[in-house]
Amino acid sequence: MSVQKLWVHNLPEQAGQLSGGTTVVIDLLRASSTICQALASGASEVVPFREISEAMAAATADGVRRDDVVLGGERAGGKIPGFDLGNSPSEYTPDAVGGKRVLLTTTNGTQALWHGRSARRVVVGAFVNLSAVVASVKDETRVDFLCAGTDGRETREDILAAGAMVYRICSSAPKDQQLNPNAALALGKWRRLLLAAYESRRSESEQLAMELRDTQGGRNLLGIGLDQDLVNCAQIDRLNVIPELDVRAWRIRLAH
Ligand code: MLT
Repeated sequence: MSVQKLWVHNLPEQAGQLSGGTTVVIDLLRASSTICQALASGASEVVPFREISEAMAAATADGVRRDDVVLGGERAGGKIPGFDLGNSPSEYTPDAVGGKRVLLTTTNGTQALWHGRSARRVVVGAFVNLSAVVASVKDETRVDFLCAGTDGRETREDILAAGAMVYRICSSAPKDQQLNPNAALALGKWRRLLLAAYESRRSESEQLAMELRDTQGGRNLLGIGLDQDLVNCAQIDRLNVIPELDVRAWRIRLAH
């Protein structure tokens, strides 16, 4: 039986070269969840930008009809002046983004995607697409989970999502799996959350929404009144989508 390597990187900078395998980029609150929602709502693609000025320039470039693109994202959690949408998944409705190209820039998530660019395959993972992303990577010989963190600090919400993915992959098929120390720790954190859900008779999503309130990203959102985003981002398997980054074309589309 071949060995499958499941590697969790708590921050993009810890990942080093990713050239051999598949990378799952996770910025649970909220870039990953928002990208899933935008594509599920019919956006033709999401183009990630690290800088506000680059996204603005792409929206106003020659040959681009402003109506065909949506500028979205955040700085300090809030909508960027002059942008169409912020970074709440609930803003990315079919009316707002259907058939359009979303030009997205966020503080940490779009930077993490940039770090993933040396991987052979890059997909975007969140709780809202947990089963879809697990099904899509579970047979790969090496999967790197790249947690975005917040401003260079590790965040529990991303690590929980990575732990849930490792848990599901390990439970899905009898394989010889090798976990790096961060993956083993993430798996332990997710198992403790499952146990807490079981003991309190909450669903996994309810337990998660509660625990997200006590994470760095969760506190940031609560501080600016975006409590509902926590609930949305905790809804496990709400969306059946696999967003995949085409590194050459630099755009995220749905994988089929
Ligand atoms: C990020 O990229 O840092 C996040 O998506 C932040 C947020 O949504 O507020």
